Amino acid sequence: MKKLSLFCVLFAGMTILYSCAQNKKDTAVNEKTVFGKLPDGREVYQYTLTNKSGATVKVINFGAIVTSLTVLDRKGKLEDVVTGYDSLQGYMDGSSYFGAIVGRYGNRIGKGQFTLEGKNYQVTVNDGVNHLHGGKIGFSKELWTANTVQDSAGPSLQLTYISKDGEEGYPGKVTLSVTYTLTDKNELRIAYKGTTDKTTILNPTHHSYFNLSGSFNNTILDHLLTIEADSITPVDKGLITTGKYLDVTKTPMDFRTPTSIGARINDKFEQLAFGKGYDHNWVLKNYSKGKLRKAAEVYEQKSGRLMTVYTDQPGLQFYSGNFLDGTAKGKGVSYQLRTGLCLEAQCYPDSPNKPEFPSVTLKPGEVYQQTTIYQFTTK
Ligand code: BGC
Repeated sequence: MKKLSLFCVLFAGMTILYSCAQNKKDTAVNEKTVFGKLPDGREVYQYTLTNKSGATVKVINFGAIVTSLTVLDRKGKLEDVVTGYDSLQGYMDGSSYFGAIVGRYGNRIGKGQFTLEGKNYQVTVNDGVNHLHGGKIGFSKELWTANTVQDSAGPSLQLTYISKDGEEGYPGKVTLSVTYTLTDKNELRIAYKGTTDKTTILNPTHHSYFNLSGSFNNTILDHLLTIEADSITPVDKGLITTGKYLDVTKTPMDFRTPTSIGARINDKFEQLAFGKGYDHNWVLKNYSKGKLRKAAEVYEQKSGRLMTVYTDQPGLQFYSGNFLDGTAKGKGVSYQLRTGLCLEAQCYPDSPNKPEFPSVTLKPGEVYQQTTIYQFTTK
């Protein structure tokens, strides 16, 4: 009898312990730590979101930057799949836009000039004679305000930046909120919402460099890429779109079936020469304002990691890390050529000067919205 009751007590105890462990696993964790201090004394925080499977995303409120993203491989091992620096200084000095939200205008505007409602504007020129990713400072080097938000899909963080009228030459005061959610389905969901008080342009995007292999000593050349697009918007030498469309059929730009990034990257093809590799906008199929659809897939065979990108945007910039040259360092490595790839959901580059492209104009009373999802599975 004594033995039986001892057994019952032990059994009950183990059941309680097990259910506590289960509960802990079911609880999404949001942690906040100090990441660094800006020269003017303002503190920068890092937030860690952990979902039910243990995947994590770390985000700082400087540039709304994703500093780390750990996801499972085929064997259940969590590894970081985005490049990053080790300190705030790295992000302040860096010129590669690691993990950031870039804006007001992601990508290039020819000569930094455009006309809106009959008025000419000149925005900062920071890429040769052109404007790139919001200018000298842009949204990616500003401090945002962060708030944790409740979302039944998983842990969530909202970051907001208010961009002053005239900042980098852009008209109107713009308020942009970006919400990162690490869903329990292992998706990094990025939802944008923007408003303005004067007619302006808005085209923000996310700039993580992904490497699904689990080691940044590997390049991304053997990653298999699929892009849901029949054409690209070709560019000139300065990487400004020509306004034309180029059919990808029988060119190295055809990623309609899974193809390794390295297979044709050195082919003699004018567009690849201009981009020093892939650095182009793909015209995504089935664009319909506000409608989310599959845009791309990246598969890394050794780890089994598969990343699927969904977006409601008309275009996707695929950048194969052609300007990484070992200068940027972090996570124990110097990032060498093509050790990360970006898939930036956006409107077509230089669209303010190309009336035939979808519009990026935002007027008072309107709400800019974008949803882009990077989903992680294995196969
Ligand atoms: C652009 C590249 C640029 C890079 C900056 C990409 O989005 O397409 O041309 O060099 O950002 O790191």
